[in-house]
Amino acid sequence: MPNENLSEAKKAKKDEFYTQYNVIEKEMNAYLEYDPDVFRGKTILLPCDDPEWSNFTKYFAQNFDRFGLKKLISTSYAAESKNYKGFYQPTLFEKNDPKYDQNKSTRNGKIFTLTCDRTGDLKVNVDDLEWHYLQGDGDFRSEEVKRLRDESDIIITNPPFSMFREFMAWIMEADKQFSIIGNMNALTYKDVFPLIKENKIWLGPSITSGDREFQVPDDYPINAAGWRIDDQGRKFLRIKGIRWFTNLDHGRRHQPLPLMTMSDNLKFSKHKEIKGKTSYDRYDNYDAIEVPFTDAIPSDYDGVMGVPISFLDKYNPEQFEILGSDAFDGSPPIKSYSSKDKVVDGKRMKSKTGTMGCVIREATFGSGTYFDVGYPVKAVYKRIFIRHRRETAK
Ligand SMILES: C[S@@+](CC[C@H](N)C(=O)[O-])C[C@H]1O[C@@H](n2cnc3c(N)ncnc32)[C@H](O)[C@@H]1O
Repeated sequence: MPNENLSEAKKAKKDEFYTQYNVIEKEMNAYLEYDPDVFRGKTILLPCDDPEWSNFTKYFAQNFDRFGLKKLISTSYAAESKNYKGFYQPTLFEKNDPKYDQNKSTRNGKIFTLTCDRTGDLKVNVDDLEWHYLQGDGDFRSEEVKRLRDESDIIITNPPFSMFREFMAWIMEADKQFSIIGNMNALTYKDVFPLIKENKIWLGPSITSGDREFQVPDDYPINAAGWRIDDQGRKFLRIKGIRWFTNLDHGRRHQPLPLMTMSDNLKFSKHKEIKGKTSYDRYDNYDAIEVPFTDAIPSDYDGVMGVPISFLDKYNPEQFEILGSDAFDGSPPIKSYSSKDKVVDGKRMKSKTGTMGCVIREATFGSGTYFDVGYPVKAVYKRIFIRHRRETAK
């Protein structure tokens, strides 16, 4: 690749990660299992896509009849707007089409729509997709794409990682159903966590750990570990912490998490941090227990519990209530105090030992509440504060 292309690629926002077919299929299957008619009669919009080689478009076009879709719309973002102009090659599909326009090819986004059988084979599938250039570059924030959003019932995509927050706000503003891929870190964004807390959005069931492979453009500059090239020369990158964010219901969030009582945990827990202790650690200045593992949540404790963020992979809103988090906005949750600070019985005192804590940014707890686990010094990871729902705690 010529050097100028390489530097052009480096300038790109590095948002070109293409989702694998089986990742999409697994998640959609979970929604369909819960409600076989979840997509019936619906218009689905797949924005921020590259319909010519997107697995989202392929998956929904292939399943158009089976799902009983009303309409499928998929849009792409112009190569030039992606900072990707230097090495963008139109596909043969585009070049061989009479609609091909050299100028528009890099400057305009594209729209693909699917509504009915056009080929006469009595099936609605990929072959029936129609396309044309958008008037603009396909930016999801444009009026043109906003109109498509407003026309649709469900929005499904892997949006640009660098714009996740804005993308989520764009969906919420239109009050649409959705399923989108993002990074787990987004859970702690100040505009995302409250939606989780209020059960307006939740995590999808199909990814709860490990990393996932995404295809990247052949000439994509990769300076991270975990990439490979397959036998067809396609380049893939493994990304950690991926989750589906959604407001489509699924069965997992209605399954209660199996739990042991507090005393059984203290006797039999598989975690050495719990087993053999006489009690769970408590925060020095807040009435809650520290539960460092989701599977160590005691079934019979009625008070507030601080649990890891990964709890949300198992969260059942009928079983638990979320009260807040110390981890808003990705800001460091751990605050180091000077070596002269310590907390005793809720009061900050002078000491030579020092301690650490974290700040809760949630009205429920009062701003500026500090959480220190145990004493002496013990740093706490990001925590979500939860309580058993009264009905289930009894
Ligand atoms: C993470 S990729 C995912 C692509 C595809 N949805 C998939 O999963 O296979 C995000 C895509 O959004 C595009 N994009 C970046 N900024 C955008 C914007 N403002 N509006 C629309 N699309 C954008 C990127 O160029 C990229 O192609």
